[in-house]
Amino acid sequence: IAFSRRQFLAGTGALSLLPRASLAAGPEGLTAEVAQAQIAPETYPVTEVYSYGGAFPGPMIRLPQGGRIRRELLNNLPVPTSIHWHGIRIDNAMDGVAGLTQEAVSPGQSFTYDFTLPDAGTYWYHAHTSSMEQVARGLYGPLIVEEADGPDVDRDEVLMLDDWLLDPETAQIDPAFDHPMDLSHAGRRGNLIGTNGRYGYRLTAKRGERLRLRLINAANARIFVLRLAGLSGWTVALDGMPLDAPEKVDGEIILAPAQRVDLIVDVSAEETQEVAILRADDDEEWRVQVGFDLSGEATGRAAEPLPLPPNPGMAPVDLGRATKLEMRMEGGAMGNMPSGRMNGQMMGFRQMMQDGMFWTLAGVAGMDEAPFARLSRGEPVRLKLINDTVFPHAMHLHGQHFREIVGEVQGPMRDTLLSLPGQTTEIAFTADNPGKWLFHCHMLGHAASGMTTWIEVA
Ligand code: C2O
Ligand code: CU
Repeated sequence: IAFSRRQFLAGTGALSLLPRASLAAGPEGLTAEVAQAQIAPETYPVTEVYSYGGAFPGPMIRLPQGGRIRRELLNNLPVPTSIHWHGIRIDNAMDGVAGLTQEAVSPGQSFTYDFTLPDAGTYWYHAHTSSMEQVARGLYGPLIVEEADGPDVDRDEVLMLDDWLLDPETAQIDPAFDHPMDLSHAGRRGNLIGTNGRYGYRLTAKRGERLRLRLINAANARIFVLRLAGLSGWTVALDGMPLDAPEKVDGEIILAPAQRVDLIVDVSAEETQEVAILRADDDEEWRVQVGFDLSGEATGRAAEPLPLPPNPGMAPVDLGRATKLEMRMEGGAMGNMPSGRMNGQMMGFRQMMQDGMFWTLAGVAGMDEAPFARLSRGEPVRLKLINDTVFPHAMHLHGQHFREIVGEVQGPMRDTLLSLPGQTTEIAFTADNPGKWLFHCHMLGHAASGMTTWIEVA
């Protein structure tokens, strides 16, 4: 296979993202620290961000499937932090959820993450302490687990999509992370979109080349609605997990916060055409999310790509035996103002709002002593999700993937599901990873203002 492993910002000269070579058996470092990054166009000042090792996004981590990762988080930030390895079927103690699976790492302290990577695919890592603020400040990076036998492509590119809320003059990150208007509505959305830490991200490509594009939505709340132009291809994986068969991309690609899509695309652009992934989203205008400059010809491939090799543990859920659960999502602006349990006490919605809580999951606002469900190891579960709000939510389960169930048909495996306003969806999974696992909205302001609960698998 001829895909290159070059770093995703190679060629732009913006930041050096080469991971440190691992010299000895000790873990490599991942230092959380303040850094400067040219997010906005070059005519603007640099932006102060939170970073891992000075790089924004954090260093590319690429490891083989079945391999082990060891990274020592050293916290050089003025605030406590921790790292969550989103989408990995991980050992619970390594899940990075401050207050549930570990203590937050105080300034000056460190914590070593050490775990194996059972599944190939496109994952990411991000802060999981005050994540609404820390992710918006830049604490995230790509985690790519490579198949032993990867697809036949010329190149493999990771594209981390984000939006930033910047002061239009100073280009500094707006520090009003918990603005009630954002929390109770669609969440914090930026005024500048970009990819891999910058506005106007560009790559070069040859006509006829076949690329694997790994899209990751790292935004706090924005749902990216993307279209291909000058590229044509297939979706081959969702949230890291391979599809049974590649699906031709026809129209929009919807990427909710934290979701990933792996595409295999052929560069089909005309001589003069710019090749671009475009964004539509909620603006009337299209904007270039990633631009490709043409730089010659390659011999194209005629054949459709083969499916990616399946990951272990992709067996369908035993729906017949499954425990049935139900979760209603309520609250938010223009919602039904539910009362709810908060810190073990029943409260009216007005009272909840005074404490910065705007949402409930199954009648509970925020983390509770008791989990939403206690499951035994290996138990099949189907969970009905009733979105009784007027906003979309991106519901993420830690530690295991699930399948969306339509009728009795089991959809592809995912770790984050987009639930639309008023919609009832159903997911199913086999609870085979023991531990305490969060289930929360990945619109991070929603998660911080009520939409976070957890399950226990024992
Ligand atoms: Cu990527 Cu609890 O999240
Ligand atoms: Cu939400």
